[in-house]
Amino acid sequence: MNKPISLTEFILDEEKRFPKAKGNFTLLLSQLEYAGKIIASHLRKAGLVDILGKTGEKNVYEEEVVKLDQLSNDILLQTLTSSQQVHAVASEELEDIHVVEKHNGEYLVFLDPLDGSSNVDVNLTIGTIFSIYHRSDSLLQPGNKQVASGYILYGTSVMFVYTSGKGVHGFTLDPSIGTFLLSHPDIRIPDEGDIYSLSEANSIGFDGPMTSYLQSMKQGRKQLKARYSGTMVADMHRVLLKGGIFLYPSDPVHYPEGKLRLLFEVNPLSFLIQHAGGKAVCRRGNPLEITPESLHQRSDIAIGSRKNVEEYESFLNG
Ligand code: AHG
Ligand code: MN
Ligand code: MN
Repeated sequence: MNKPISLTEFILDEEKRFPKAKGNFTLLLSQLEYAGKIIASHLRKAGLVDILGKTGEKNVYEEEVVKLDQLSNDILLQTLTSSQQVHAVASEELEDIHVVEKHNGEYLVFLDPLDGSSNVDVNLTIGTIFSIYHRSDSLLQPGNKQVASGYILYGTSVMFVYTSGKGVHGFTLDPSIGTFLLSHPDIRIPDEGDIYSLSEANSIGFDGPMTSYLQSMKQGRKQLKARYSGTMVADMHRVLLKGGIFLYPSDPVHYPEGKLRLLFEVNPLSFLIQHAGGKAVCRRGNPLEITPESLHQRSDIAIGSRKNVEEYESFLNG
């Protein structure tokens, strides 16, 4: 039997390719991995201890904060701010970027501590999304400057999926030894797929091109499958492995700018999908080329298999 490769071994091996690397990136990813394991251990007990339900507070988007949003945010923040690697951390749950004064860290980390909060109380898949940049003059940089991005998925099993620009790799937590082991090396998204993932509940607000696109998808080709869980990262993970498209369009009735957060959701997953051979677009073009104007800026998004996204684009551009 071949010895399985752990996430730590894998990252260390990647680092060897950069003779000048000092190990900071490896340590940063290890801290994210560690925080993910702690969050996962709390989630596994949800329902038995008092961590389900809402806190009664609202976040910057006027969304109700669930207790596990808060807990995940605190665990990640404590882990990262005590690390020597981080210059600043930003979270979907915090109004402002938290600059770590006492360390002269090299990296900026953007977090959606818990994606899919509405699925917490009903025991469905949720995740943590992360996005890493080098420290630079501006705290807000376009997504194509990301050094790495990825997510931890709390599903049937716990997975850590990431890219640092050299392929997308997936690791599954072996609970018996508490270690993430390489289970999905070099993930490539199929060039085309039959899954479409969006909230058609918003369709009353969709404009002409979007309505025609949806109509055309359902006509005259092999049977499509609709899959939408309310957790973007889980829906995206399915699209990554099986092929297809995930959309959260803007629409004037519900979300004129789109719903999803550019820095916390759209950019990390766009960067990752691009490195798996897929594509992401928004109405402004490539989301990764947008220079953010504010921390909590939203964007529309269509992301997934190259052919599916190009088909969507052909409607968008008339
Ligand atoms: P979060 O739980 O971090 O607030 O994100 C929820 C996001 C995304 O994960 C999901 O695809 C979408 O919001 C669901 O929105 P609708 O409830 O409008 O379908
Ligand atoms: Mn989210
Ligand atoms: Mn969230």
